[in-house]
Amino acid sequence: MKIFIDTANIKMIEEINSWGILDGVTTNPSLIAKEGTDLKKCVSQIAKIVDGPISAEAISLTAPEMIKEGRELAKIHENINVKLPMCIESLKATKVLSSEGIDVNMTLIFSPQQAILASKSGARYVSPFIGRLDDIGQSGSDMLIQTVMAFRNYDIDTEIIAASIRHPMHVIEAAIAGADIATIPYDILKKMVSHPKTDEGIQLFLKDHEKSKK
Ligand code: G3P
Repeated sequence: MKIFIDTANIKMIEEINSWGILDGVTTNPSLIAKEGTDLKKCVSQIAKIVDGPISAEAISLTAPEMIKEGRELAKIHENINVKLPMCIESLKATKVLSSEGIDVNMTLIFSPQQAILASKSGARYVSPFIGRLDDIGQSGSDMLIQTVMAFRNYDIDTEIIAASIRHPMHVIEAAIAGADIATIPYDILKKMVSHPKTDEGIQLFLKDHEKSKK
């Protein structure tokens, strides 16, 4: 499973990239606003740090506007893909953008049927939101499993990005489901590294090493 970071924070991206495990980055308008930055400036900076796909989300609501905005965003860097919210207008826009070789990440996916339509329109990625489905008492994990199974039945090459990941168990759910990619917030990536028994083990080895020197 590829690992993307879900943030627009440059310092966090630099740090996680330095671990050598980062495959790409996703941003969205909320994450951009949180950093008080500008989308184009932000994704240009990210492209200098990370050698992998970077999602930049369009805010247009009609197909012609999405196409125009998508073309502009794609010009920023060859690794930029255009994130569009799932709707009829974005299906139309994806058809055009993908035919021009511009990768689209269809976001705000909450059902396998939405994902199937997005893949048919030519989306390179679909982003099922696990956490937000859990929030309303439905299983994000089941929805992800169904999406992966449906795609496998037909060898659909659209990559599935497990998104809206809120805790380390969501990462395990994404991996068991067979998601191609998990886009993970910074604090969860940090939590994934740690285990109290690992810390305890390191201390014990160091203590025993000190003893053996005496
Ligand atoms: O990138 C979109 C997605 O990951 C948002 O997550 O936690 O706001 O539902 P969340």
